[in-house]
Amino acid sequence: MIRSREFDESFIEQILAEPGGEHLLDCWSCGTCAATCLVRRYEANFNPRLVLHKAGLGLREAVLSSAEIWQCSACDACYPRCPKEIHISDVMRAIRNIAIREGYEPPGPFAVVDEVRCSGCAVCTRACPYEAIDRVTKTVDGVEKAVAQVNKNLCLHCGICVAACPSGAMSLEVFSDQELLSRMGAGGWLEQKGYLQGAAEEPRILAFVCQWSLRSDDELQRVKEKYGDRVRLVNLPCSGRVNPAMILLALTQGADGVLVVGCADGECHYQRGTYLGRGKVALLDAVLEQMGLAPERVAFARLGAFDRFVLPRLIDGLTERVKGVAEKLPVAG
Ligand code: FES
Repeated sequence: MIRSREFDESFIEQILAEPGGEHLLDCWSCGTCAATCLVRRYEANFNPRLVLHKAGLGLREAVLSSAEIWQCSACDACYPRCPKEIHISDVMRAIRNIAIREGYEPPGPFAVVDEVRCSGCAVCTRACPYEAIDRVTKTVDGVEKAVAQVNKNLCLHCGICVAACPSGAMSLEVFSDQELLSRMGAGGWLEQKGYLQGAAEEPRILAFVCQWSLRSDDELQRVKEKYGDRVRLVNLPCSGRVNPAMILLALTQGADGVLVVGCADGECHYQRGTYLGRGKVALLDAVLEQMGLAPERVAFARLGAFDRFVLPRLIDGLTERVKGVAEKLPVAG
């Protein structure tokens, strides 16, 4: 039940005055946004239509204290479908701006800058899909220098900046490099010799999988049962987070092949993550060639959130490619 004293017109005016919030009252509440929302596929409680509806009624406390205003990943899948052409992620950002000013804490996790390591090159600033990173001048250890600064209101923890940073100065509070290395099996799985070294009967595959691209536990279980220990799955927040150095590390240790799986076209939650992930794998080709590591050992693929039986096909395809590489290797002795 909503009491009349909860309706706060000044909240509506505040949102309308905030950049991005101008179109709040244009909403018809038709629900098209909810029907196309990529986040809602996994977070059934998230409903952008309801957030806008409550905001349009002026329910300040209910809106600003809700978890939902932080859940929109600004993928903008809803924007082209909205009959009123409301940029809903902009309205969400306007509401988040107000929430921050009124003392509500964004829940994170966030990208974090190691200011000592940061060279102020601003590669992360350009890589971030949300313009959440500024280059500012600060005194660090008594020295004035340019460093990256993360705006917590805008950061949506995709990890793209982490993979882009040439100084290793960016990290995420989750999906840190250390965490990914441990999931890759550093000190264990990763160091075991593989098929190409003549030590395994079948190629050992490391698969980096965007956490949004495959949400079905059944499918993951099927992969585990079918391949057992020879395939290792490592979740990423987005395929744009994949770090080429980690792919090289895996190939020079015990992985015979590396598969990077991103969301299907138009489904990346972070706007251009699939594009970046695929680009990094493509750029690695020349490096792998030069290092004498066959580029066929690395593959990029797109996977829809509800695709069934596709991941095993991708793994089987890479397995065959690795076997093809083995056939071309010089015979020892
Ligand atoms: Fe899946 Fe970006 S969120 S590839």
